[in-house]
Amino acid sequence: MSTDTPLMKEADADAGGNPPVDGSELIRLEQVSKRFGSTTVLDRLDFAVESGKHVTLIGPSGSGKTTILRLLMTLTKPDEGTITVAGEKLFPAPEKRVREVRKKIGMVFQQFNLFPNMSVLRNITEAPMTVLGLSGDEAEQRARELLDLVGLADKCDARPTRLSGGQQQRVAIARALAMRPQVLLLDEVTSALDPELVAGVLDVLRDIARTTDITMLCVTHEMNFARDISDQVLMFDSGRVVESGPPEQIFGAPEQERTREFLGAVL
Ligand SMILES: Nc1ncnc2c1ncn2[C@@H]1O[C@H](COP(=O)(O)OP(=O)(O)OP(=O)(O)O)[C@@H](O)[C@H]1O
Ligand SMILES: [Mg+2]
Repeated sequence: MSTDTPLMKEADADAGGNPPVDGSELIRLEQVSKRFGSTTVLDRLDFAVESGKHVTLIGPSGSGKTTILRLLMTLTKPDEGTITVAGEKLFPAPEKRVREVRKKIGMVFQQFNLFPNMSVLRNITEAPMTVLGLSGDEAEQRARELLDLVGLADKCDARPTRLSGGQQQRVAIARALAMRPQVLLLDEVTSALDPELVAGVLDVLRDIARTTDITMLCVTHEMNFARDISDQVLMFDSGRVVESGPPEQIFGAPEQERTREFLGAVL
């Protein structure tokens, strides 16, 4: 990847690029509640993520982790509370503002959701051209740099179905980054992969965490990965943050019994 790409640290902004402001709050959830029928999935949740930080959500299945990411992606709405991204209200907000704020956020899912009928390159250039208005040449240059970053420079013309799951997930990461989001949301991005493919994807994410300014909010069951990349770990259970702190605290000396119990079961 060339050194002048705006994804890299201390880079400037361009189309769709929104460099984070160090130390400022990029995401804030205040008193956010979400219910499905009579089940309260998020219960007056408060938390914030600072620009440039890597925050990991851990916790048992069904505790509401994916729901948090879906709220930030505006795929679902909270029943109560406010969500602010880069100083702008995402909820409640008029539809036009939601679309603008939404551009600041990229997400990679457990299932890669690539467009099967498009080449790898097209998968990555499509949204920057249609949503950000980049020219074909600009979008292609950006896509090639990102494919280089994820170690797939030689797969530009391949169809996603010809790639391994790990390669497809790396394309999905490049596709999310092509929109130059301020924050990257990652939801168990390795859990659908064969075990031997997990390390390659985690290495790419470690690389992105180390070499770019992007803010990351990850849901993961890969505790070693969480320990490596996180500035802050949030232990989550029954729709609430049970405990939060640096990885040394959460993994080394958790204060809450629920955290100890969870880590005892998964480590
Ligand atoms: N669309 C929906 N309709 C009804 N219930 C839902 C819906 N989406 C999520 N839920 C429920 O909300 C709760 C939290 O789900 P969520 O997917 O956020 O959990 P999670 O922490 O991501 O779990 P996992 O680790 O298994 O992915 C679960 O009880 C789930 O069944
Ligand atoms: Mg989930």
